[in-house]
Amino acid sequence: MKDGYLDFANSPMGAKLINALGLPKPLPLERYKAGQPVIQGTVLIGGGGEPQLLEALSAFFKSVGAQSLAHEKLPQWVAVANKAGLTTGRWGGNGKPGEKVKCLVFDATGLEDSTQSDALYWFFHDAARSVLPCGRVVILGRPPEECKSPRKATVQRSLEGLARSLGKEMKKGINANLVYVSEGAEGNIESTLRFLLSPKSAYVSAQVMRVGKPVGDLVAPKDWNLPLAGKKVLVTGASRGIGEAIAEVMARDGAQVICLDVPQAQEGLNAVAKKLGGTALALDIGAADAPQKLVDAAKAQGGWDVIVHNAGITRDKTIANMKEHLWQLVVNVNLSTQERINEALVSAGALKAGGRIVCVSSISGIAGNMGQTNYAVSKAGVIGMVNSSAPIFAEHGITINAVAPGFIETQMTAAVPFAIREAGRRMNSMSQGGQPVDVAEAIGWYASPASSGVTNNVIRVCGQSLIGA
Ligand SMILES: NC(=O)c1ccc[n+]([C@@H]2O[C@H](COP(=O)([O-])OP(=O)(O)OC[C@H]3O[C@@H](n4cnc5c(N)ncnc54)[C@H](O)[C@@H]3O)[C@@H](O)[C@H]2O)c1
Repeated sequence: MKDGYLDFANSPMGAKLINALGLPKPLPLERYKAGQPVIQGTVLIGGGGEPQLLEALSAFFKSVGAQSLAHEKLPQWVAVANKAGLTTGRWGGNGKPGEKVKCLVFDATGLEDSTQSDALYWFFHDAARSVLPCGRVVILGRPPEECKSPRKATVQRSLEGLARSLGKEMKKGINANLVYVSEGAEGNIESTLRFLLSPKSAYVSAQVMRVGKPVGDLVAPKDWNLPLAGKKVLVTGASRGIGEAIAEVMARDGAQVICLDVPQAQEGLNAVAKKLGGTALALDIGAADAPQKLVDAAKAQGGWDVIVHNAGITRDKTIANMKEHLWQLVVNVNLSTQERINEALVSAGALKAGGRIVCVSSISGIAGNMGQTNYAVSKAGVIGMVNSSAPIFAEHGITINAVAPGFIETQMTAAVPFAIREAGRRMNSMSQGGQPVDVAEAIGWYASPASSGVTNNVIRVCGQSLIGA
């Protein structure tokens, strides 16, 4: 659905009025176009203590062909970058900023205790005003729960406060995210940085991601523009909305897509499958025999590589007014069904080793929502399913992760009453709703064969919504 306020705020007359009234000014967000460079601009690098990811970062910038500059408190970057064959230089100096940059990347892995947090202050104080619109801020740290010293765990945990505050302060469509990288997982960060530093992460802000040792093999794609080449991906609820966008991104990334939806949606489903050169599978996933039918379908195709559990329903009523069957229906389709399907596909070997399971939760499952007890139970349960099954599926070389969308522009949200819809659109750091493709791009990151170190993550695609923050 068209966001009239966004268009008005970016018209010459509207911009003046909005400035005068001090109203939120959403900027049209940059979105990824197939084949474009990952980073369109220069990256400013900073770090504190003895940063431990500089070599991994130099390898990454070499791989994506990005230009980098060193903040004056990180002069060692120049030598590391030169060693990797990158041209680089110093940025600003003597308290004066340098050129405008597209991204800020701060390696905080070397911070050993809170007395060293000044390094964060100097870098972001100097650079905050020098980031171009729709720029990116990425902070890299060590997972606090894996730090041996309590003081190190404390300062690493404090990074969350910085990332979340920067997400609110930066404005102009700039996001800020934190990635905790386990020791020994330094070589696994490429897929995550490609996602976060590119327009693919347009509506992802103030999130905390974890990259660990690979589950199964870490396979760098031969062609990063086609990371899913040769992969078979099942997307449920693919006839429209977010599911259609997920199927499109999977196909763009090279996958053969199996588009699933209920038989009543057959027409839309066929159209999506045809457009993407995929196949259509009309099936109600809530039916008792659905898991076995999926096992049979997967085996007939030699096994699947990725399952995206996107299909979901709402049946909103306050709990006092809700009929039992509406509770059961929502919990079954949104949660119990997914548990059954995962167990069936994994135990039958129909989801291959190195496979990916990606689930769609919701910010309702994190914050709760009036009139959505059944839905919130199902979506919070999805997070529980990710957390509890990640170690079990890891033994099969399979990752499981979830996205929790906020306000996304779909038929579902177009049906929401005007005042609530406007509140949902504006009450986030981007002052606008997300697009289905924003959810799809996050799923593309999880689905990549290079994301073996990414499991048991739940990230919100919500523009840093105030709801459930
Ligand atoms: N739109 C948002 O703002 C938003 C926010 C948070 C979470 N989500 C979640 O994102 C997912 C997609 O949402 P959407 O807005 O595109 O919804 P949508 O209603 O447009 O699409 C959902 C699709 O799932 C299919 N589906 C429903 N039950 C099914 C079943 N039993 N078997 C097979 N297919 C079934 C539907 O036919 C439909 O095509 C859902 O899980 C939803 O809960 C959406």
